[in-house]
Amino acid sequence: MAPPLRIGIAGLGTVGAGVVRMLARRKDDIATRTGRKVEVVAVSARDRNRNRDCDLSGVRWFDDALALARDPDIDVFVELIGGSDGIAKAAVEAAIEAGHDVATANKALLAHHGVALARAAEAKGVGIAFEAAVAGGIPIVKTLREALLGNRVERVSGILNGTCNYILTRMKDEGLSFESCLDQAQQLGYAEADPTFDVDGFDTAHKLALLASLAFGVQPDPEAIHVEGIRSITLADLDAADELGYRIKLLGVAARSGEAVELRVHPTMVPKHWPIAQVSGVTNAVAVDGDAVALTLVGPGAGGDATASAVVGDLCDLATARPRAVFGWPAVNLRPAGKPAIQRHEGGYYIRLAAVDRPGTAAAIARHMAEQNISLESIMQHRRGRPHGGDRADSAEDPAPVVLITYATTEDAVRRAIAAIEIDGVIASPPQVIRIEKD
Ligand code: HSE
Repeated sequence: MAPPLRIGIAGLGTVGAGVVRMLARRKDDIATRTGRKVEVVAVSARDRNRNRDCDLSGVRWFDDALALARDPDIDVFVELIGGSDGIAKAAVEAAIEAGHDVATANKALLAHHGVALARAAEAKGVGIAFEAAVAGGIPIVKTLREALLGNRVERVSGILNGTCNYILTRMKDEGLSFESCLDQAQQLGYAEADPTFDVDGFDTAHKLALLASLAFGVQPDPEAIHVEGIRSITLADLDAADELGYRIKLLGVAARSGEAVELRVHPTMVPKHWPIAQVSGVTNAVAVDGDAVALTLVGPGAGGDATASAVVGDLCDLATARPRAVFGWPAVNLRPAGKPAIQRHEGGYYIRLAAVDRPGTAAAIARHMAEQNISLESIMQHRRGRPHGGDRADSAEDPAPVVLITYATTEDAVRRAIAAIEIDGVIASPPQVIRIEKD
């Protein structure tokens, strides 16, 4: 049997302790299947005395993650500290410099510094494994980097943030407010320490940057992504979507657009029959459209066991194989995504307007749409108030909600039509616009 693979873990929270437990629980099968033992030999964490419900006897303790990263008696440095800069970045750089492979769950670190870290790792002949950084327990990194290598991928889209999916699901199913659903997501431990990362779309953007790199050979770069979060979504939108045959999901989408790759994160209307539309609660899903294979992977996107499962899978890879190029393409070959302006985005749109209830309003709306060559697939005028509660009942003087669904058009045309409608004074508040994703 080959010598054991010696693991040093920095960060012993839910995921780190989960990795220690899983490696212990599965040690015999892992040794049989990889041909060597995979052993945790050293750890670093802030508090030595916390009860973590895992056996750390015989394991060396470091108070300093950097010292652990440089330790010559480990083979793999597992970074579970988090954060795009600071100690996590310094420790990963030190581990690479010391010639260690790295496994990490840190999407922010790789989204912001992935190119430099991948170049350093590839120059040193070590790997950076990051299955745990995207969609938790769903093996989408391996799927894009290895299993689908024979495909030319056209689009990757996904529900990559469990907190947002949980909030949108509960708002729709139970008519609850955004704030109370976010509170619950925080209590259940789904949300990031700063939940703005979740609800404003940045967590999804970090994960999308990594998926785009794997699928299209572009440099991970959060700045290349158009990002909108879910704060503006109301119960009225969720109800109207349902009536029209859609679900609203916060999607990350990476799609070929000529030579560039269109990268966007925003609330999206998804046809109800799509597998991704049926994914509810904290669960994640990723759909890949390749020229040979189209598939959707669904699974737990967060949580100790799910994320530990991804880390342990990576460690078993590192135990058996020479590391691959970090993003599946040599780092020197990664090209900028070439951000296409969102104004050039083409697709269908959902537009909800608070129309002033007086003669000529509908005609003005229709005229401005026609002036921009926008063809309407449907127009729906909602009764005032929400039938099953949640919102206050509106009075007769309140504006009437009008919902338009357009055929494929451009973002630019939609924005110009809305600006003209606003100038006309026929709507009482800023309109809601949600992009529709179709096959
Ligand atoms: N806050 C993240 C989520 C955790 O809600 O999906 C996993 O990155």
